[in-house]
Amino acid sequence: MAQIKVPFYGHVKQYEGIKADIDKAISDVLYSGNYVQGPALKKFEEELAAYTGADYAVGVGNGTDALWLAMMALNIGPGDEVITNANTFFATVEAIWTAGATAVLVDADKDTRTIDIEAIKAAITDKTKAIAPVHLYGQTANMPEIRKIADENNLFIIEDNAQAFGAAGDNFKIGQYGDVVCTSFIIQKNLGCYGDGGALWTNRKEVNDTVRKLRNHGSDARDHHSYGFNSRLDDLQAAVLSIKLKHIDAWNDNRIALAKVYDEGLKDVDFITLPYARPGYRHIYHLYEIETKDPAERDKLLKYLNDNGIDAKTHYSIAVHKQEGFPWGKPVRISGSLENAEKNASSCISLPIFPELSVDDAKYVIEVLKGYKK
Ligand SMILES: Cc1ncc(COP(=O)(O)O)c(C=O)c1O
Repeated sequence: MAQIKVPFYGHVKQYEGIKADIDKAISDVLYSGNYVQGPALKKFEEELAAYTGADYAVGVGNGTDALWLAMMALNIGPGDEVITNANTFFATVEAIWTAGATAVLVDADKDTRTIDIEAIKAAITDKTKAIAPVHLYGQTANMPEIRKIADENNLFIIEDNAQAFGAAGDNFKIGQYGDVVCTSFIIQKNLGCYGDGGALWTNRKEVNDTVRKLRNHGSDARDHHSYGFNSRLDDLQAAVLSIKLKHIDAWNDNRIALAKVYDEGLKDVDFITLPYARPGYRHIYHLYEIETKDPAERDKLLKYLNDNGIDAKTHYSIAVHKQEGFPWGKPVRISGSLENAEKNASSCISLPIFPELSVDDAKYVIEVLKGYKK
């Protein structure tokens, strides 16, 4: 790759913008002497519950753990099926397997690339226990429809919100229709800490209570243990997240504004498809994902962008079921055609988008893209 002119992430720029608050928050935790399950975690969990409108929020080690801990708390395990997107980050499927359940992979909607509603309906069997829709690239799945399906079939909904912190539907919030919402705070997410972190939120008291025990060696009182694990969001990361949570809506607004610049500048480029945002939805562009109309052009276009100093990437160029060795003896069922998911994998390119990206840099990306010759 040529020297990078337009990077993919702006972590250091973001840190510089909030340095005084972050440094103080870290120093406060260090001087408090409480680093694990201390007051900074409790404070952040309360703030997260207030932000999301949920009754309970629980910090855990990462987004993958949030997903399987939520499934375990809902008694989802061996013999149960969980329906999810074939075009997700690998972790969603890993989490289903860690819970011991069978992952049922279904196709993407042809426009939004979130989970396809008809494909969910067609995948349901008497073993289905839950749907785990992924709010892919920063756009909420069609939750009212998913809730209807869940109610008709007595299923849980575990929302994988790792890519959509701060997104919303048209007149609905993330979590409004789900039983549990799980998120990741790994640094590259819209709300990211300085390392790994995750959380879930829910109105279900039993999920809150069970995950609090499971994350801490099955303990809710000193020296008392039942079956559990170690998966805690530490206080340094929680303190960082408390600072960043105050900025998330403004940061997401910047992403939306940059997406508009891309939408406008690229609307006449005939060899790519631009991301589709459902009318009225707050798509917060965790990724600005374009697709080449001809999959054979994708790698060439990506190389061309990289050669021009644009750190474009792919998310995700190999669908879960196309990974080498898949499924490694793990329980999985592919339901129906995965045509849209596969098209997405073979043609996707993520253009740089982050709150600190300058409009000039976005315009440079547009100009370079327009200059691409097949
Ligand atoms: C859709 C999705 N689900 C789950 C995860 C897992 O999160 P983590 O890396 O924090 O375990 C991620 C991101 O990493 C993700 O993008």
